[in-house]
Amino acid sequence: MIPREIIDEIVFRNDIVEVVGSYVTLKRAGSNFSGLCPFHNEKTPSFTVFPATKSCYCFGCGSGGDVITFIMRTENLDYVEALEFLAARAGITIPEDNSQNVSSVSRKRIYAMNLEAAKFFRSCLLDKDIGAEALEYLCEKRKLSMLTVKRFGLGYSPNDFGMLTNHLKRLGYTDEEMTVGFLAGRSQKTGRPYDYFRNRVIFPIIDTAGNIVAFGGRIMDDSKPKYLNTSDTPAFKKSRHLFALNFARKKCEEQMILCEGYMDVIALHEAGFENAVATLGTAITSEQARIFAKYTKKVVICYDSDDAGQNATQKAIRLLGEVGVDVRILKLSGAKDPDEYIKKFGADSFRRVLGESKSGFDYGVDKIISSRDISLVEEKVKAAGEVCALIARVYSRVERDIYIRRASELLSVSAESLASDVERMRRRIEREEKSEQSKEAMLSIKHIGDRVNNDAAKNIRATANEESILGLMLMLDEIRAEAAKGELISAEDFVTDFGRRVFMALCELEVSEAGFSKAMLGQYFTVDEMGRIERLEMERRMLARNDREVFISCVNGLKKEVKSAEESDPFSDLKRKQDELKKRKNKNN
Ligand code: CTP
Ligand code: MN
Repeated sequence: MIPREIIDEIVFRNDIVEVVGSYVTLKRAGSNFSGLCPFHNEKTPSFTVFPATKSCYCFGCGSGGDVITFIMRTENLDYVEALEFLAARAGITIPEDNSQNVSSVSRKRIYAMNLEAAKFFRSCLLDKDIGAEALEYLCEKRKLSMLTVKRFGLGYSPNDFGMLTNHLKRLGYTDEEMTVGFLAGRSQKTGRPYDYFRNRVIFPIIDTAGNIVAFGGRIMDDSKPKYLNTSDTPAFKKSRHLFALNFARKKCEEQMILCEGYMDVIALHEAGFENAVATLGTAITSEQARIFAKYTKKVVICYDSDDAGQNATQKAIRLLGEVGVDVRILKLSGAKDPDEYIKKFGADSFRRVLGESKSGFDYGVDKIISSRDISLVEEKVKAAGEVCALIARVYSRVERDIYIRRASELLSVSAESLASDVERMRRRIEREEKSEQSKEAMLSIKHIGDRVNNDAAKNIRATANEESILGLMLMLDEIRAEAAKGELISAEDFVTDFGRRVFMALCELEVSEAGFSKAMLGQYFTVDEMGRIERLEMERRMLARNDREVFISCVNGLKKEVKSAEESDPFSDLKRKQDELKKRKNKNN
């Protein structure tokens, strides 16, 4: 962990107005600055920088925090990486952390070790005695050229428990570094490390800065598991990487191709589609969606044609849509994945179908129509209803008209009747939205569907008290110090999980040796959560009275809320426990 003084120094030397100003055009607004929010699409500025508190907040989308949080979000870095980024910007050197922490293997060591491992894997692949079979697998069976093999740094992990670990040990890497870095497992009997990847072709995963962050290894026959992958390490978070982004980022301004597997990407690059990347095994995450938004305008999803691939497609359409990327879907026929398609039909054919990739709407309509037999009247009516429901959700009228005309052709139903159905549904949706809005307003809008604090809606009044308590603790040192003693209030008093976590983090920092610093909160929370924490404090600051008396009354308010909720709610924990006890007693009698 980076020492607190260094963190404070980093925040001090990176003026938030200057840092934010290098990403966002800021205009002075009183003592603050405002600009267009870089985290969501907007036409009028709602992103505000507060020099006095060294923080920022977007009143539109709720993102916010200090300069560290801002960099975490814009540069897509984790807390420590953001600190390193800002330290470099301000010319501060972070002292090498000196193994006080037992499992602290530094990222830089893992990068260096991975580079050595990649070189080792490659030399094994190219060694006739060791890697002939693997090379044949890649070049003959998978039809890759030598150029591609080298470009992607592919390799082979020999069928041996000690070759890599011994090699790395000779180079000075410790057992701990190898196990933490996921290159070695540890024998349960002897505790000794052994090679994790054995008898597999190796795919290095390289980040955009050129570091080798992880490996995937494929077995060459049908045994299981087909792939082994590096799990999360201090140098690697699977959900934040895209395979081959290191190459694709140079060719991706207009569009990118998203596929499922390493081999798909490599086959596509070899065929000249150098804008292809893959999520690593799992379905796409929102972090990965944001990476796409940063690099490109349009993503063509080209997942496998099986059910798993098609389900993953739905999620990708949604997540990429949310970050404002234009999404197209390419559903291959005649092959299960892009790799197989190119082998069977060639690159030109792929280029053609790529050009014919469908919009999310067409993909949705296709799915509806192909799941029903529309030669039957009843089925056709149902399909038309579903298609209209899809169109009714489209915001733009022009777009709706285009879709209605297309649906009318596909279903051979008149456009007029489809249009009138769509309009009826739209009126209903609008009515529902309106009544939802007024319901929300009544229930103190902000907590319905609250993604950061998802228990907030359970007890609005308790949540409001929690927020005031935390806001005051963030704002006022003496209140935080008193609260951290645990006499006035403790973690168990909190109703929401989020509130409790913030409370615990504040207390932990307060009583830590280095003491509290807001800049250290980022290690406990996601950027979305940091935005909420910023809001808690900001909302408190806007109020006229902030002192101990208010704090005490909020504490009492929270306790009272909890108590009365327990009494009136038959499903509350307390009541349930009592009931259970009674039941058990009755049974025993
Ligand atoms: N994957 C994984 N572990 C598995 C299976 C798959 O991590 N046991 C990940 C890999 O990243 C793989 C991707 O999911 O590349 C897609 O899986 P699949 O379609 O089965 O693999 P392909 O890349 O198509 O591999 P191949 O063509 O060699 O069968
Ligand atoms: Mn495949």
